[in-house]
Order: sequence, then C-alpha cells, then structure tokens
Amino acid sequence: MAQNYDWKNLSFDYRKTDCNIRCDFRDGKWGDLVVTTDEYIRMHISTMCLHYGIEAFEGLKAFRGVDGKVRLFRVDENAKRMQNSARKLCMEPLPVEMFKEACVNLVKKNMDYVPPYESGAALYLRPLIYGSHVGLGVHKSPETSFLVYCCPVGPYFKRGMVMIKVVIDRMQDRSAPRGTGDIKAGGNYASSILSGEKAHDMGYSNVMYLDAATHTYIEECGAANFFGIKDGKYITPASPSILPSITNLSLRTLAEEVGLEVEQRPIPLTELSSFQEAGACGTAAVIAPIESIYDLDTHEFIEYGKEVGPWCNKLRNMLQDIQYGRAEDRYGWCTIVE
Ligand SMILES: Cc1ncc(COP(=O)(O)O)c(C=O)c1O
Repeated sequence: MAQNYDWKNLSFDYRKTDCNIRCDFRDGKWGDLVVTTDEYIRMHISTMCLHYGIEAFEGLKAFRGVDGKVRLFRVDENAKRMQNSARKLCMEPLPVEMFKEACVNLVKKNMDYVPPYESGAALYLRPLIYGSHVGLGVHKSPETSFLVYCCPVGPYFKRGMVMIKVVIDRMQDRSAPRGTGDIKAGGNYASSILSGEKAHDMGYSNVMYLDAATHTYIEECGAANFFGIKDGKYITPASPSILPSITNLSLRTLAEEVGLEVEQRPIPLTELSSFQEAGACGTAAVIAPIESIYDLDTHEFIEYGKEVGPWCNKLRNMLQDIQYGRAEDRYGWCTIVE
C-alpha cells in the first residue's frame, strides 16, 4: 500500500512500490512479462552489462488528471526510443506492444502510488534494458533482459517555475558525433557526471554541452534538450549526438499550433545571445526556463532575464494541460490507465 506521502515535497529518489515487471530474451525469443515484488536482480559476476555498459533506459510519467483519470504520456514514443537504443547496442529490441503492456500493467498495479491531482506530482516509470549474457569477450550479448519499475516523484518546481543558471564547460563532452548521444545509453550519463558535479559545486543547475568535434554548436542542456525563441520562431538544435527528447517533439507540435515557426537546425554558440527566451526541456520539468548562460572559457555571460518568458509559460501550460486532462488530448498522446 502507498504511504501517506507528502506528495508535493517528494524528491526525485527511489521509493519502493508494490511491484515491478520483467521479461527476458532467451534462446531467440522474448518470454512472458512477469510481475514481481523482488527489488533485486541476482546477477552473475561476469554479466556483460556490468563490464561493457550494454545497457539503456527510459523515463516517462503517469499523471492523475483533473477528472481523476490516470494518463500515461506518449508511451509509444518511449517504446520506440528504447528499441533504437537496443539496436545501437546490439541488444534485442523489445516489441512496442510488450513495452506498452508492461508500462500500463505496472501503473495499474501501483495505482495507489500515482500522486493526487492537486499535488502536481507524478508517477515516474523507469524502463531498463540490459545485456544479460554471461561472458568475458567484448561482443554482442545474445541474451537481453528488460524490466520496468516506478516511483512517485514530486513536482520538479515545488514553488512555481524557477529560472535556471547554465554553464558552458568544455572540460567534458557528453558524446561524440558518431557515438551514442542519440540513444539513452547509461554510458552517456556516466560521461557527464564529472562536469555535472563541477557545475553544481559552482552553483549552476545545468551544463550546456557543445558538439564534441568543434565546440561551436549547441547540443544538450544537462539531461534535457535546448530550445530558444526569437522573432516568432521555436529553434532547437539538430545533431546526430542529441537524444531526441519526447518533450521537445511535443513542444514543437504545440509551438506550431500556436503559430510559432519551428526550426530544427544546428545552432552556433554565437547565436545564443540573440534569443529572447531559452529553455531546457524534458520529462522531469517539461520546461526549465533559462535565466543565464555563462561560458567558463570565454567568460561571456548571456542573460535572458529573471522572469519566466511568455512562450516558456504558454508552451509548458499547454503541455501540462494535456498531461493532466485539463485540455483535449487532440494528438492522442495519452493512454488512460484504468
Ligand atoms: C540527455 C537527455 N536529453 C534530453 C532528455 C529529455 O528527453 P524526454 O523529453 O524524452 O524526457 C533527457 C531525458 O530523458 C536526457 O537524458
């Protein structure tokens, strides 16, 4: 049973729920989805994911709406993105329908943990896929395992939308042009921890990653995509080493709906100062509006202001209205879980 949580103040941390769901690819086929209360994986010491990082994950949320119904947001897109991750790491992709069934069933079985509507909190789902073959050589893993668990998490902004301070640091690149930046491989996160810690120690929320080849184009903003707004345009970077954010995909649709022109193209660093608003977007916050960007090497300081810009506000509200059932789900993004 769910605890009597202080839903509004929950941090982004693991919390036990009633069960998780798993399945394995063995002998050339996926087995059945199995529901378990076990929070642990018993793993051989030579399992490939542990040694060679053959592993990828996903993150999505279920929201309790204004009408009491629970909505899972764009689960098909997460399923497809996990398939892309699996393929690039030579793992067996989990069929989209199985991914969806696992997520829907997980939410159903953990309904008590879906936070109440008024709290602004949500149930976070964490699907994981990993190479579960026991071996020693570096090659593909003939066996793959999948699991999905969930945790209630509080609203990203506990006291209203807050502007974030971002730092450009060339000390560490997140991913290489022909690397794994476009999939959700754990290794990408491992290679961003050092610069992330340094940024936090210096008082910044996020590191702005640049393209690894030339350090002249914008890539990602921590574990979020970047976008800028100027002259009626929503502009977001195009690059083979950016994770295609499902939030960004949705914001682009909504931006077009309200008459913004959408551009997805390389954004040179020199263009940053011309934006009227800028934001980091992802499942965690939808939009974290950017107050300022400081370049540690050139000492350039770009300030967008301390007030949340009108477009950041509007787009975030539009997306959350769909997630919380306050607006019609006109693009069929939500799966109602009953
Ligand atoms: C590196 C990176 N970029 C972007 C995103 C945002 O993606 P999404 O909107 O699908 O959450 C995430 C979070 O999942 C991320 O880890």
